Amino acid sequence: MAFSSQHGGNIIEAAAVMGVDANTLIDFSANINPLGMPDSLKRAITENLVLAERYPDVEYRALHQALANHHKIPQEWVLAGNGETELIFNLVQQLSPRKALLLTPGFAEYRRALARVGCEITDFHLSEEQGWQPEASLLSALSSDLDCLFLCTPNNPTGLLLDRSLLLAVAQRCRENNIALIVDEAFLDFIPDEPGLIPHLSNFPRLYVLRSLTKFFAIAGLRLGYLVSADTVTVGRIREQREPWTINAFAALAGEVILNDSTYIEASHHWLSNEQPRLFNALNALPGITVWPPRANYIFLRCDIEGVDLQRALLEKNILIRHCANYPGLDVRYYRVAIKSPADNDKLLEALRQVLSHKDGAGE
Ligand SMILES: Cc1ncc(COP(=O)(O)O)c(C=O)c1O
Repeated sequence: MAFSSQHGGNIIEAAAVMGVDANTLIDFSANINPLGMPDSLKRAITENLVLAERYPDVEYRALHQALANHHKIPQEWVLAGNGETELIFNLVQQLSPRKALLLTPGFAEYRRALARVGCEITDFHLSEEQGWQPEASLLSALSSDLDCLFLCTPNNPTGLLLDRSLLLAVAQRCRENNIALIVDEAFLDFIPDEPGLIPHLSNFPRLYVLRSLTKFFAIAGLRLGYLVSADTVTVGRIREQREPWTINAFAALAGEVILNDSTYIEASHHWLSNEQPRLFNALNALPGITVWPPRANYIFLRCDIEGVDLQRALLEKNILIRHCANYPGLDVRYYRVAIKSPADNDKLLEALRQVLSHKDGAGE
């Protein structure tokens, strides 16, 4: 049986394919901070279990205030959701674009959300020759018949940050051509002192920035994300029209607590500043593997050894990585691995060395 999950983190399916207990797998396929949920949040949840017994504030006032304070923006610009994914769908539903441009490879849910509203999608292919980065040709692709452009920075799965001056030129061009620009900054918190586009929102009335808290704060199961935009009409309409109480009380509490946990934030940046170059350099040194320098907590790679299914071979060693063959524009040679704890990263490296040396030497 093939293992072909659309997303990372599907350890249940992978374990079923291998006939092993999901708890025995080390999951490198979902990009979650290995420091785990912040202690400040664990404490807040256990001290507030009573919240489970009542409805959350349907307006989530304290949560929205906390997010607005964090970014120093008006509260009406912010809308939290049950993970960023909910807001991708809410926003696309509200904007109902007729023609959208997507960069490939990219996160799958933009396409699903656009397909749901019957939007015509044009792909803008990123190429390996251009280092998987869009160049100025993206600007000329932004014609006035487009309604919507999705960008992701750092991009998933490539892990690359978009060039800031190109990003601003794209925003400018979108403003001139009245194109809604949706920028996914789900992984930006992993890069210290990287403000992203939120400080520019007031210059671009049709710019929508999406953020996720599930990766950096390791709350993928609790779920929390948010949308920020100076387009208070669109934000307000989504707020009025969406289903009530989609964010559970503990996720709402998380948003009030974790952004103030500077100890956790610093520890996370410290971990990544060590493990990101270490894992990158070690992968780079492996025969038959090409890696792209990561900016976030995951690494994009290509395996050039004919006939090696790296995901399958590693699964046999109880390690799950993300294959990228189902991203438009990629093929079976491409994979993505999360950066995890030093001990787990060592296990990945050791397993890879075994898989690759076996292939090199034994001539099987
Ligand atoms: C680029 C990107 N954006 C958004 C999301 C969704 O985040 P959330 O867990 O907040 O729904 C993901 C999840 O993998 C992602 O990779």
